[in-house]
Amino acid sequence: MDWDSYAREAEEAFAGAATPDQLEEVNVRFLGRKSPLKLALREVRDRETGMRLNAVRERVEDAAHGAGDRVEAARLAEILSTERVDVTLPAELLGGVRARPRGHLHPTTLIRRDVEDAFIGLGYEIRDDREVETLDYNFDKLAFPPWHPARSPRDTYFLDANTVLRTETSASQIHAMEERKPPIYMVSIGRVYRRDTISATHFPIFHQFEGLAVDRHITMADLKGTLLYVMRALFGEDRRVRFRTNYFPFTEPSMEPDVSCGVCGGSGCPTCKFSGWIEIGGCGMVDPQVLSNVGLDPEEWSGFAFGLGLERTAQLRYDIPTIRPFWEDDLRFLRQF
Ligand code: DAH
Repeated sequence: MDWDSYAREAEEAFAGAATPDQLEEVNVRFLGRKSPLKLALREVRDRETGMRLNAVRERVEDAAHGAGDRVEAARLAEILSTERVDVTLPAELLGGVRARPRGHLHPTTLIRRDVEDAFIGLGYEIRDDREVETLDYNFDKLAFPPWHPARSPRDTYFLDANTVLRTETSASQIHAMEERKPPIYMVSIGRVYRRDTISATHFPIFHQFEGLAVDRHITMADLKGTLLYVMRALFGEDRRVRFRTNYFPFTEPSMEPDVSCGVCGGSGCPTCKFSGWIEIGGCGMVDPQVLSNVGLDPEEWSGFAFGLGLERTAQLRYDIPTIRPFWEDDLRFLRQF
């Protein structure tokens, strides 16, 4: 065997290999286990032949490495030019894939964040409480009298004789006051449940936000100022707030706050049923009995509380006539936000 021409032939073959497949073929032919070179190396008996053949092997291997680097570089260059992505193209034009539509926040979440922002601005703490309550927290400690209709399974979802789906976020007041000493300034936001028949204004599940302030020397003026601030933050600077007397078990006096109608500015229109005012929830001064129930001295501490519907707030804010679409999946409604 003329090993010199073997090496030269190998060098030429490697130089001519352009693709990984061709390279592999040349490799097998000149360096494979059954190549003349490898077979000859296995037969070597003397030192001289060994040195000679090893020199040939090195030459051929050098050629193989050089060709390997070159073919790999060419393969990369090919990938870079053919698989290049223009990231400035609209996504739906890339690879024929339609862009996945982007979701957005639900209107209930949007209004919830607005409420949180308004109260955080006042230094309030935001709470998220349990939706399953014992009768103790949902009714007793809030001073509900034994005859109150909300205690009936006709009005309230009972899980067992002592456990209900909370009917209002007011139970959060008790948790907040039991957890630590005043001063307390908190808003609790979340779902509440009532056995209501679905209608334009009622849904068996909805959201409330419940405020509680307990400190020394809290008065009704603080309550009114706070609600006025929040109503203006949510609905606009020109809003006014008024109170009508009412009854709630856990406040004394109890009131329903109204906000001036944003459609007519207070002069009267169908939205406010020609009263100029819109009902937004309940409020009052924390009943001394409730303070005693959580171990606070009513002579030392006083407070106010309020509870408002979150969907109702969103309805007023976005001019939505009924509560139902908040709990349905109608994209024609949801896409508007
Ligand atoms: N919990 C009452 C309801 O769901 C609303 C309410 C009234 C909350 C007066 C209060 C309050 O904190 O002081 O109808």
